Amino acid sequence: MKTKYWSVDNDVNSEKNYPQIVEAAQLIKKNEAVAFPTETVYGLGANAASDEAVAKIFAAKGRPADNPLIVHIATFQQLEQIAVDISEPAMKLMHTFWPGPLTLIFYKKPGAVSDLVTAGLDTVAVRMPDHPAALALIRESGHPIAAPSANKSGKPSPTTAKHVLDDLDGAVSGIVDGGPTGVGVESTVVDCTVEPPVILRPGGISKEDIEAIIGHVAEDPAIANAESKPKAPGMKYRHYAPAAPLYLVDGEQQWIQRLIDEQMKAGLKVGMLAPGETASLYKADVVVPCGSKADPKRSAQTLYQALRSFENKGVDIIYSEVFPRAGVGAAIMNRLEKAASHRCIKQPMKDQG
Ligand code: TXA
Ligand code: MG
Repeated sequence: MKTKYWSVDNDVNSEKNYPQIVEAAQLIKKNEAVAFPTETVYGLGANAASDEAVAKIFAAKGRPADNPLIVHIATFQQLEQIAVDISEPAMKLMHTFWPGPLTLIFYKKPGAVSDLVTAGLDTVAVRMPDHPAALALIRESGHPIAAPSANKSGKPSPTTAKHVLDDLDGAVSGIVDGGPTGVGVESTVVDCTVEPPVILRPGGISKEDIEAIIGHVAEDPAIANAESKPKAPGMKYRHYAPAAPLYLVDGEQQWIQRLIDEQMKAGLKVGMLAPGETASLYKADVVVPCGSKADPKRSAQTLYQALRSFENKGVDIIYSEVFPRAGVGAAIMNRLEKAASHRCIKQPMKDQG
């Protein structure tokens, strides 16, 4: 199929932009799948109530059917259409962080969304994105929109329209280009059907931010421990991964350089991902800087672009420095650990300078 393309800026109601949003919304109404920007990453959206529409998302991405989707809403009224038993902490969270990069899991209202969206679960994931184009598209289509990240399953999430086209051109009905996304990593997913609520996936809103509003929250043990089974079905898949094997390396810059040198001597083409402070010090075949240790928000914004930039460079192995875990750093490290299948090489004590 030919993928329609629209380019809009944040002034979505302008004479130039609004007709484009209307055209994109018409495709959603016709149960087609359309990619659109959110503040986190690009999503691939379809009418959440329609089996036919939602099936197109799974087909285009090659997504396993047991991995449920997030439903995107533009109003609190739409939440009432799809979810029941909304807890007090959930109320506080959504009134503080919506619109924004926070997804909450509720019990679903039977029949309100396609069973494909929820992968047969009795719960539904909901968020209100903080992006004018996303909100306008949802409003104009008249439906809550189910949307996973708009990448081929297993690839890093798209933070630009070009990433979406690289993965899905010809496989989806349209794409709304709203420029690069702001947050860069996906929303934080919090299960609000249990007390205290449980973080299932770290993301754009940090644990610290959430606890400042509702006090202690739990974390799915699977986030830290690769052996336990995650409660968000999607978290079990190797994800966010570039084509070459990735290894986290935790140690001093000179020690990491020795690892790189050994691989290069053995004839391998080596990629290196590092924050701005150290990136320029490495000698490898491909060195990709990613934000800076001093500015985790910037690292989050550029992480997926950085992972994607190793594609087509012919590298055999990629090393990545570890990043600080505070704030959005928890999400950065979660994505890197998954991309690395939790492989992490630590500098032995005896080698420390
Ligand atoms: O920022 C984001 O959240 C982006 C943008 C497009 O909104 N979306 C996104 O969707 O990251 P996706 O499909 O790539 O990730 C959704 C995650 C998956 O890990 C999925 O398993 C989990 O949310 N999830 C969805 N519904 C769930 C449910 N009912 N119970 C537990 N986990 C759920
Ligand atoms: Mg995804």
